[in-house]
Amino acid sequence: MSKDKHILATDVQRVAKKRARGCYFTAGLANPFALRAFRDWAERANLKNTTLLEPFAGRGDLLHKLASVGLLGNSSKAYDIAPAGRAVSRRDTLRDFPKGFDVCVTNPPWLARNSATMRGLPFPPDCVHDDLYKQALELCLLHCGYVAALIPESFIRSFTRFELFYQRCESFVSLTGDLFCDTVHPVGLAMFAPTSSKDVRLYRNDDYLGCYNSLRSYIPATDRQKRIRFNAPNGALGLFALDNTKGASIRFCSAHEVASYNIDVSSRAITIIDGDFSISRQFINKVNKELANFREKTHDIFLTAYRGLRSDGKYRRRLDWAQAKSIIEMA
Ligand SMILES: C[S@@+](CC[C@H](N)C(=O)[O-])C[C@H]1O[C@@H](n2cnc3c(N)ncnc32)[C@H](O)[C@@H]1O
Repeated sequence: MSKDKHILATDVQRVAKKRARGCYFTAGLANPFALRAFRDWAERANLKNTTLLEPFAGRGDLLHKLASVGLLGNSSKAYDIAPAGRAVSRRDTLRDFPKGFDVCVTNPPWLARNSATMRGLPFPPDCVHDDLYKQALELCLLHCGYVAALIPESFIRSFTRFELFYQRCESFVSLTGDLFCDTVHPVGLAMFAPTSSKDVRLYRNDDYLGCYNSLRSYIPATDRQKRIRFNAPNGALGLFALDNTKGASIRFCSAHEVASYNIDVSSRAITIIDGDFSISRQFINKVNKELANFREKTHDIFLTAYRGLRSDGKYRRRLDWAQAKSIIEMA
């Protein structure tokens, strides 16, 4: 093998290993622990006077971030399967989770099962969740009373009201700061308490958005009986379902406007919609008004976020077909 090919092969192996372990250190300039929601949680958890656990510590960057805002007490313990810092001990914490800690702050490994399958990466056969971070989070919650974890922003849309994650989650912050150097995946900070919380307080960075249950009440309900088809070439309604890089640009329009785009059965960003409704300028205005109202009231927290920020500093969002259907029905 030539020297160049050897370097390339080693690079590919390194990236695959990094992905398989979900190994992205929180090394960006932003500090999520300086935020109001985290400081409030830290006070309730008595963080400064407890022995803190970081079970997936990597290089120990989270401990440095806590120290830099004066929230790291005298005692902490950090573990990782592949320690990259002097204060981090080697341990497979997914298999052998440390016991006897009440407070845990971490950024666990993230790896979606479908992404592992697609890339041919190993995925723990005993993992019951669709992403490794949920397995790690469940272990943290089983063994520690107070848990704060940096996890995908999509977490807030994935929980049902009866499960462990929802019941103990006190607050969730959608973070748009510069947290990582090697990934731009949308990220949030979830904070949990030992006992069941009545509702989840939602924030975007330092801005309070409202409680999960009140924001959820603005999600329009879907009528399963109504016939609405997406990616239907003969439809009359068009939809730009993904924000552009400048701002909140998702909108409904007439099918003529989108006709020149290549729309097939798998299109997710632009579509033509067919259904039991008659199209007029007033109808399109009405659906767009419903959409704007939904986005404003829910602060976009229930729309899928895309990698990378818009130039207004917020995540690009996508309206999925179920949400689009509900909005059309409202109109
Ligand atoms: C997303 S990184 C975050 C590292 C660190 N918490 C930070 O925020 O900078 C996840 C870490 O989990 C570690 N990890 C993956 N599987 C593990 C396991 N089974 N036991 C312990 N650590 C593991 C990886 O090596 C990686 O350092």
